[in-house]
Amino acid sequence: MVKKIRSCIFISGNGSNLNSIITNSRDYNFPIKVVLVISNKKNAFGLNFAKKYNIPYKIFSSINQNSFERNCIIELKKKKIKFICLAGFMKILSKKFIDNFGNKILNIHPSLLPKFKGTNTHKRALKSNVKYSGCTVHYVSQKVDSGNIILQKKVLIEKGETENSLKKKILKQEHLIYSKAIRSVFR
Ligand code: GRF
Repeated sequence: MVKKIRSCIFISGNGSNLNSIITNSRDYNFPIKVVLVISNKKNAFGLNFAKKYNIPYKIFSSINQNSFERNCIIELKKKKIKFICLAGFMKILSKKFIDNFGNKILNIHPSLLPKFKGTNTHKRALKSNVKYSGCTVHYVSQKVDSGNIILQKKVLIEKGETENSLKKKILKQEHLIYSKAIRSVFR
């Protein structure tokens, strides 16, 4: 049996990226095993995937950042987590937390970084009339959406494209590149 890296996925919402990572992680050769899911939102739909696959999960309020991160660290240590993926996790982690985990936190962002960092990505992409948007998997650094890029996928913005259609199209690619990026960092 391949020794898989014990990993935690952080979510805040739908968890479709979480679902795709869990599904891929069941592959014998996938480098990580999802042993914990952390959500900062108690009603996050994505928690259903943790339940479905019997993966332990924790819900910690992030209203107070210090106590949120303290709770996370306790749990991450308890579960011997060595790798973290942020997947639709809508909270900025502190420098201290990021330093604690070195180069072991990945994030996915729905644009071709460095373009359109932050929120309302699709709206801004459409407004700026760019021909392509896409998604990026990158290491998490102290500056939001600015860490080293691991993998990107370009998506054509078609005539009549709406925020919703673009979001759907990009999300489909996100599900492919997140796992591909995870494989590549452990190669
Ligand atoms: C994705 O578009 C991701 O890039 C962004 O938030 C969205 C989360 O989607 N950070 P989901 O919760 O994985 O379905």
